[in-house]
Amino acid sequence: MAGPDCGPRHVAIIMDGNGRWAQARGRPRLFGHHAGARRVREVVECCPALGVKYLTIFAFSTENWKRTQVEVAGLMSLFRRYISKEMKALAAKNVRVRFIGDRVRLDAKLINLMDALEHETAENDGTHLTIALNYGSRDEVARAIRRLAQDVADGRLDPANVDEETLPRYLDTHVLPDPDLVIRTSGEARISNFLLWQSAYAEYEFIDTLWPDFTAEELAALCRSYGRRDRRFGAVKP
Ligand code: FPP
Repeated sequence: MAGPDCGPRHVAIIMDGNGRWAQARGRPRLFGHHAGARRVREVVECCPALGVKYLTIFAFSTENWKRTQVEVAGLMSLFRRYISKEMKALAAKNVRVRFIGDRVRLDAKLINLMDALEHETAENDGTHLTIALNYGSRDEVARAIRRLAQDVADGRLDPANVDEETLPRYLDTHVLPDPDLVIRTSGEARISNFLLWQSAYAEYEFIDTLWPDFTAEELAALCRSYGRRDRRFGAVKP
């Protein structure tokens, strides 16, 4: 789906490079995560002007628990602070926030704040900001299949009717359109278990900029370049 002037309507971002950004300055990794969190606001705010209706950002993956306890605790505390601090501004800017990912491993205080932010912005219809927190695509698909299998077991779903349209209804992203453009910062060219099913036809941009240096101007340039691409979805041009 394309926005005004053929730009992407749904942009998904793997915000990578916070640690290296901090290390380059001789500072601890969390310093980079805090700098990264400050970039989120600018990027969210520039979406309406670019015609980006849906923005999905990868904040914490199911694999990120393998980091040191200090880094994990610091990130969790950063998420709590970010939500408390940004709640009013996001609500006022007509941003609707949703979280995707498995909440089971998250602490109760953070879950309450996530619920509050979703509730506070539920009536907004401007930018749809989705934050992937304790998210992994394979985990999401496994959880979806568990629910789908339960529906089959309970007689609510006939296996003969399972097709390509069925699984997406069980995914965390069920209310969102598929991403048109997936961006990864920091020079790594991999997708790290992010929106695997949903990005089957997305365009990808792997850019060298470290996330704390990413700007609205850079996003605008990537959206313009997307508009020049020829998306065929497996078909040939008429
Ligand atoms: C990857 O950089 C980044 C993360 C694991 C965390 C992403 C989180 C933020 C940008 C914080 C703000 C988010 C919200 C929603 C407030 P890295 O640590 O892997 O960097 P490296 O590859 O240079 O080590």
